[in-house]
Amino acid sequence: MGRLSVKYLGLDLKSPLIVSSSRLTSGLDHLKEAEDSGAGAVVLKSLFEEQIDHYIHSIPLAADYPEADDYVSYYMRSNTVDEYLSLIKNAKESLSIPVIPSINCYSSGGWTGFARNIAEAGADAIEINVFFLPDDRKKSASDSEKVYLELVEKLKKTVKIPLVLKIGFRFSNILNIIDQFYMRGVAGVVMFNRFYEPDIDIDRMDIIPAPVFSREEEMRYVLRWIGMASAEDIKIDISASTGVRSGKHAIKYLLAGADTVQVCSVLYSKGLQFLKVMNREIEEWMERKEFGSVDEFRGRLNYRNYTRPVVYERTQFMKYFAAEE
Ligand SMILES: Cc1cc2nc3c(=O)[nH]c(=O)nc-3n(C[C@H](O)[C@H](O)[C@H](O)COP(=O)(O)O)c2cc1C
Repeated sequence: MGRLSVKYLGLDLKSPLIVSSSRLTSGLDHLKEAEDSGAGAVVLKSLFEEQIDHYIHSIPLAADYPEADDYVSYYMRSNTVDEYLSLIKNAKESLSIPVIPSINCYSSGGWTGFARNIAEAGADAIEINVFFLPDDRKKSASDSEKVYLELVEKLKKTVKIPLVLKIGFRFSNILNIIDQFYMRGVAGVVMFNRFYEPDIDIDRMDIIPAPVFSREEEMRYVLRWIGMASAEDIKIDISASTGVRSGKHAIKYLLAGADTVQVCSVLYSKGLQFLKVMNREIEEWMERKEFGSVDEFRGRLNYRNYTRPVVYERTQFMKYFAAEE
């Protein structure tokens, strides 16, 4: 294995860079290009809970999604569950890097048994992009969390392959919920999912989709929580996601303690081949710093290893400015 190799979910990856779930990972040609460009693994575009329900119950889809909603509408129209299972099988036959299918869900409902079909198709692990919008003010935070935990328990009974949860950051206590996932056998968490958000066009006086592609600045809150979560004494792998636009950004996440780094938006603008540039950047930095492996520097700057962990705790600017005076 080369200098960039890492372990993730017990799998051997030749690079910490993973192409995250999107339309870029929806076809074999792109997946091969990702492998040839140096991706350590690929997370396939998500299959949606609605699609699985439709497949199981063969009822017409009732959902109505806005045109611009790439996360849902494209796949609802153009993909079937059978095609998805074929994609997993074909990807496993053609690629040597791990193939991680993804399911996008909002409930712990009847779809979970379908995870078995995904495992049988040859998946190396399964990533669940899960979010339950807390839209009922009568429900407490722990009511919402219970749904996540029920989902995990159901899935753990269904499949033996590693289970990864791609979560949002809007939990009252992220470290606690990650701990609860770990205790239920979850092998990894993706921190964090970047949601489809609404924006307002004040000229047209209409609700429009916010930009779907991320910016570097969005890394900040992710860095804090990876730095904190990776310092915990539990063996749950962390895959960083959001805002990575270069190899340097990936290094930041690794220093904060991520096991792997997922990349999406930048590959939409620069192409999958850009992974080569990013891998090279990481290697050159490692050479300069005389690191022989990623493990040698991973987590060096997390909450436990950094000499002044208080910087992770600092949230109020007042204190910062006061200290500067
Ligand atoms: C066009 C587009 C489509 C996406 N589709 C999915 C999806 O189907 N499933 C999923 O889990 N994440 C999806 N994502 C989220 C990405 O996998 C990723 O988590 C997010 O974009 C943050 O990473 P980035 O900053 O590198 O773009 C999508 C993102 C984009 C931009």
